[in-house]
Amino acid sequence: MNNRIEALNINSLVDVKEGRIVPSIYTDPQIYELELERVFGRTWLFLCHESQIPKSGDFFNTYMGEDPIIVTRQKDGSIKALLNQCRHRSMRVSYADCGNTRAFTCPYHGWSYGIDGTVKDIPLENLAYPHGACKEKWGLLEVNRVESYKGLIFGCWDDETPDLIDYMGDIAWYLDGVLDRREGGSEIVGGVQKWVIDCNWKFAAEQFASDQYHTLVSHASAVQVLGGKQGDNSTNQLGQAQTARPIWETAKDNIQFGQNGHGSGFFFTEKPDANFWVDGEVANYFRETYEEARSRLGDVRALRLAGHNNMFPTMSWLNGTATLRVWHPRGPNKTEVWAFCITDKAASDEVKEAFERSATRAFGPAGFAEADDGENWIEIQKVLRGHKARQNKLIVEMGLGNEKCRDDGIPGITNHIFSETAARGMYRYWADLLIHEKWTDVLKASAQYEKELIK
Ligand code: FES
Ligand SMILES: [Fe+2]
Repeated sequence: MNNRIEALNINSLVDVKEGRIVPSIYTDPQIYELELERVFGRTWLFLCHESQIPKSGDFFNTYMGEDPIIVTRQKDGSIKALLNQCRHRSMRVSYADCGNTRAFTCPYHGWSYGIDGTVKDIPLENLAYPHGACKEKWGLLEVNRVESYKGLIFGCWDDETPDLIDYMGDIAWYLDGVLDRREGGSEIVGGVQKWVIDCNWKFAAEQFASDQYHTLVSHASAVQVLGGKQGDNSTNQLGQAQTARPIWETAKDNIQFGQNGHGSGFFFTEKPDANFWVDGEVANYFRETYEEARSRLGDVRALRLAGHNNMFPTMSWLNGTATLRVWHPRGPNKTEVWAFCITDKAASDEVKEAFERSATRAFGPAGFAEADDGENWIEIQKVLRGHKARQNKLIVEMGLGNEKCRDDGIPGITNHIFSETAARGMYRYWADLLIHEKWTDVLKASAQYEKELIK
C-alpha cells in the first residue's frame, strides 16, 4: 500500500464487524479522489442501453465517474466507448445528449474524429505540423473494455477487472427480473431525466442496495394516499383496488441480498400487481404478462415487482416502477442523477407511455417518492458539515450476524429485508477497492469477508 492510501487509513473508516461507518467517507475530498481512481477507474459502469444506439453512427453521451464518455455504434454493429476529450487541448468533441453522426468535430480548433475515435482531419495540417501530425496516435482515448448484458452496455477502464458476468455475480439473477420478463428483452423508453442533488453518491447507491426500512417512514404520506386499508374495497387515488396495500403487510416473506458490493431487497408477493407505486395501466400490464414472465423467470421473480437494487457502484433500479438510474459522482458533496425508464420491448406503445408516466410520477425529478428520498440524503450531507457531527459514526448494524444462504434457489448472501447486510457488504467492498491495488487482492479480501459472514 502506498503512503497516500496508508495515511487515509481506510480500514478504520468501515467497521463491518461492529456495523459502524466514519462520516468522512461521504465528505473527504481525498477519499473522493481515490474513489475516482480505484472505484470508477476499475469497476464495470453502466453506459447506456443498446436500444438507445441501434444504428451505425448512433451515439450516446454519458460519464464514467467524472470522465465524459461517448458510446458509439460502429459500422460493423459493434460498440465503442470513447473519452469525450479532444487530444489537442482537452475540449469535449461531442455535446448533444445523443444522435447520429459521421464525425465528432472539436469546436475549439476543429480537429475531427470518426465514430471509431480515429483522427480524420486537422485544419491546416501541413502548415501547423510541418514535421507531420501523429494522427494515428492522436485518436480519442478508447475505454479498454465494453461488454453488454442483455441489452445493458457497460464500460471498464481496467484490464484486470473480472469479466462483466463474473463482476456481476448473483446480482445478474435479480437484474434478469427486469431485463428478461418477455421475449425480446428490454428497452429504454423516452429520454433521460437528469438532475443534481447535493449529496454524496454513496447515500443513493446504498439506499437502493439496502434500505427498505426508510419506506415506512420517509414515504409514509405516499403510502397513506396510495395504499388502501385491509378490508376496504374502495379504490385509491390511482383507481387501484385495495389489493394495493403496502407490500410489507401482504407479503409472505422477504429478502435482502448483499454480495460483491451489490445489493437487492424484495418481498415475496402472491399477486402480479402488488406494487402500489404503479398506476392502473401498468398494474394491468403486469397481470396480463404474468404467465409469460413466470415461464421465463419462475414464480419468485415473475412476482417480484417491488424490488430495490444497486449494482455496485452506481447503477440502481426498481422493479415494477421501471426506473433505472445512474448516480454520477460530482465531487464528495454532489451527485448527478440520470433516470431512465426501462420496459419490456414487447410492450405496446400505449403501455410504454404508461410506464413512462408512472416512473416519472413516482421517481422523476419531482416524483413523489424521489423527493422524499433526495431530501434525506441532502439533509445528512448538510449535517455532516458540522465538526461535532463528523465525530459520530453512522450505525449500520441492523441484522448483523443473521446472514445466511438460502436453500430455495435464491442466490447469494441474504438476510431479512429490514437489515443492513447489503450496506455493510457495499462499504466493505468499497474499502477493499480503495485499499488494494491489485484485483486479486480485492477478490481475496471480499471472499474472506463473505466466508466469515456465513460460518
Ligand atoms: S482543443 Fe480540440 S482542436 Fe484544439
Ligand atoms: Fe425511497
